[in-house]
Amino acid sequence: MITENKICLKLISAKKTYPVRQPILRANRPISSCKFTGDDLETTLHIGAYLNSGIVGVATLLQAQNSTILDASAYQLRGMAISDEQQGKGVGKKIITYAETILKEKGVLLLWMNARESAIPFYTKCGYTKDGSIFDIDKVGPHIVMFKKLN
Ligand SMILES: CC(C)(COP(=O)(O)OP(=O)(O)OC[C@H]1O[C@@H](n2cnc3c(N)ncnc32)[C@H](O)[C@@H]1OP(=O)(O)O)[C@@H](O)C(=O)NCCC(=O)NCCS
Repeated sequence: MITENKICLKLISAKKTYPVRQPILRANRPISSCKFTGDDLETTLHIGAYLNSGIVGVATLLQAQNSTILDASAYQLRGMAISDEQQGKGVGKKIITYAETILKEKGVLLLWMNARESAIPFYTKCGYTKDGSIFDIDKVGPHIVMFKKLN
């Protein structure tokens, strides 16, 4: 038998993100808490990372302005999550690279996110810059805005 260990990245529906979104980002909260405002908009993109046909990573890209970093073409990254057993193996970085490629093809020049404090080193490694100071998101914890100009 041949065992494949290659990560495959593709665009998926919002609901297909839930098996990773829920345990990693909404642990002990109902499945309804996995739905984000804007999930089903035509401009929204959902990325799935698959390993041997099982989903191991997800991220969502929403067309949204940031209140301080102004760019008409801006997108926001939300719902970035890698399953516990696959964290630290490069899957997150692959998703970010894939997201940036897709957005650049669309002419998007700014990608930003409300980064969990614990994820700041990851986004920094991916080339993102902090903006402003730490703020609290209810039921989730401390965050900071991070961004990258795409070109
Ligand atoms: C944060 C998260 C998305 C990162 O994805 P990942 O697949 O684990 O990260 P990668 O393996 O692709 O790491 C890419 C780089 O960032 C570094 N990195 C990742 N997490 C890090 C951490 N907590 N501290 C320091 N460096 C870190 C890696 O060492 C790697 O560096 P390298 O390129 O020099 O090898 C993932 O760990 C996760 O889902 N965490 C829980 C949910 C979460 O916090 N989501 C973000 C919400 S804003």
